[in-house]
Amino acid sequence: MDDVPPEEGSAISSVAIRLDDVSKRFEGSENEAVSSLSLDIDAGSIVVFIGPSGCGKTTTLRMINRLIEPTSGSISINGEDITQRPVSDLRREIGYVIQQVGLFPHQTIAGNIATVPRMLGWDKERISSRIEELAELVGLEVAMLSRFPDELSGGQQQRVGVARALAADPPVLLMDEPFGAVDPIVRGRLQDELLELQATVAKTIVLVTHDIDEALKVGDRIALLNVGGILEQYSSADELLASPANDFVAEFVGQDRSMKRLQLKTVADLAFERGPVVSFDESTAAALAMAERYSTEWVGVTTGEQFAGWVQVDDLDAAGSLESAPRSVPAARVHPHSTLRSAMEIIMTSHTSVAVIDDGGSFGGVITLEMIRSSLDDVEAS
Ligand SMILES: Nc1ncnc2c1ncn2[C@@H]1O[C@H](COP(=O)(O)OP(=O)(O)O)[C@@H](O)[C@H]1O
Ligand SMILES: [Mg+2]
Repeated sequence: MDDVPPEEGSAISSVAIRLDDVSKRFEGSENEAVSSLSLDIDAGSIVVFIGPSGCGKTTTLRMINRLIEPTSGSISINGEDITQRPVSDLRREIGYVIQQVGLFPHQTIAGNIATVPRMLGWDKERISSRIEELAELVGLEVAMLSRFPDELSGGQQQRVGVARALAADPPVLLMDEPFGAVDPIVRGRLQDELLELQATVAKTIVLVTHDIDEALKVGDRIALLNVGGILEQYSSADELLASPANDFVAEFVGQDRSMKRLQLKTVADLAFERGPVVSFDESTAAALAMAERYSTEWVGVTTGEQFAGWVQVDDLDAAGSLESAPRSVPAARVHPHSTLRSAMEIIMTSHTSVAVIDDGGSFGGVITLEMIRSSLDDVEAS
């Protein structure tokens, strides 16, 4: 490892795509479609462009792969101005998933996926093994490969669009409303799959959507644009919700901003502790001391790693031991991967606090409504 020199600049910046003061005015149009847009997109991240219809999202994507040239300003990829490179080279590095999928109707699914590899002159064997690899990656059954696009469901067609864009393994992926044409359930599944895929392939992805929930779910950072291609805010989902830059942003993200933030966080994000909990074999005095330490009227009881229920402090004296005290076994429990929104729902309809049970069934601690509420005080930076 000591004979590998550090890559120049690699530690300083991981910017993959930089837009510098980019504007676009279409011929014959009075207004700019994109106006002085500057932003950096980190390598390996998903950046979402969102905003009302006509705010320049598609135009911006098309400027990145030079289907459209900016009127002014510059765009660079990995530090190199894109106008300094042959367009064919540039496009090879950029996969493009277009709005409405746009599969070639008279070509099989395999043929569609093979578009770019064929252009690049790959041999047959390499192409067919790549097609199979991609089908697996995006969750397409091999039986689909010999079909034609109109023989596939909307969700399957979207997967083909993604596979086609990924065919030559480009480091950058541009996705224009990739899940626009499918129903909400399939859309949610495709979003999950995109996140799983991204965990494996780690592309630099720019995704356009007009769905705020989609943006919040998949975006490492979100660029919220206004009509005229004006950037209103560029931040993490949490920051966008916690501190909207202006009224337009606040209105766009919706009134249930805190609830949306809780939807993005999980129980594991809380610094929860074991709480006022004792083991069955401990004394009632130990249980009382525990309740006092936490100023609660009850203690949790465990047997081994399992959570056995809650015992009221008032019942302890009469019972004489923890074992014989009446105990309420909680129906409500959450997992570390539960969202804080669902944890809150559970707390509101059950106890003042709720037990965290991990996937192995072991007790992990307790969380309270106040812990959830105070998690909203910290804003995750982007
Ligand atoms: N080729 C074009 N010629 C003229 N105007 C265009 C062209 N493409 C887009 N526009 C205009 O530019 C603006 C931004 O369009 P677009 O980038 O497609 O918006 P979005 O994708 O955000 O809905 C719109 O006002 C649109 O009418
Ligand atoms: Mg568009």
